[in-house]
Amino acid sequence: MRTVAPVSELQALVHEAERPLGFVPTMGALHAGHAALVRRCRNECATTVVSIFVNPLQFGQGEDLERYPRTPEADQALLQELQCDVLFMPSAREVYPAGRRRRVSAGPLGEILEGAARPGHLDGVATVVATLFDMVEPDRAYFGRKDAQQLAVVEALAREWERPLEIVPCDIVRDLDGLALSSRNAYLKPAEREQALGLSGGLHRAERAWREGLRDAAELEVLARSPGLHYDYALCVDPAGFGAPRPGGPLLLVVAARMAGVRLIDNILLGGQQPAESGWVCRQT
Ligand code: PAJ
Repeated sequence: MRTVAPVSELQALVHEAERPLGFVPTMGALHAGHAALVRRCRNECATTVVSIFVNPLQFGQGEDLERYPRTPEADQALLQELQCDVLFMPSAREVYPAGRRRRVSAGPLGEILEGAARPGHLDGVATVVATLFDMVEPDRAYFGRKDAQQLAVVEALAREWERPLEIVPCDIVRDLDGLALSSRNAYLKPAEREQALGLSGGLHRAERAWREGLRDAAELEVLARSPGLHYDYALCVDPAGFGAPRPGGPLLLVVAARMAGVRLIDNILLGGQQPAESGWVCRQT
């Protein structure tokens, strides 16, 4: 594995790399969810590029930019083990050179749900992802379904991309007890983690009810809310575009909750075209 920081070095490697080239953008503090993306990329592409960059533009005022977990040595060891070809770890100056004012809008999707709770967050994501795509020039890029709205923003971005670029959505990887893996789980004390389980527990409850025939979105939303959690939202949306669900169509049940200053998100697809590997994917031990 080659670890590079300057864009010029990255591009020298990318230009002579075997194609298809797959790209997995991350903010580091890697866990088994990230590892699943990298494994899939390795399996499907001749070259795998992973980036680690904690993007200041997607953190709002008073959010956790400073204390966001950073574990560069462990990340490098894991990526080495996963046989990643290139690890790109640019500095903020490399990604946002002084005077560069390029900003990419997430569009209307950037205003609702996550965008409403974290103004500017999804525009920050769209900007860094577009910038990284320009630098890495991938044929395929791998994103997790855990950040479903981010995935929708990136899919819209890729549709407007000048070169063909396939976005590959990857299933949510969960801990053995159901909690979706997240770098931010590291903030949780044991009692808080126990409480956080309510988030996936609620989704599981709604999923069971769905399987038993419940189709009413409002009732599913009530079922998804676990007591004791402070929800920002628990909402059924149309998985294609995040608008109001279509009658008889699939539902994406998205939830976000805050606990002890930590914001956690999760979701589950009810009905529709289930991906082959769908279900509750637990991390490999
Ligand atoms: P980060 O939170 O590090 O996540 C990197 C990628 O891993 C994202 O595509 C995310 O959806 C995926 N991921 C995280 N947890 C997952 C899980 N439990 N199961 C499956 N996939 C999971 O998302 C970001 O970074 C940033 O916003 C980024 C896209 C890198 C732009 O800065």
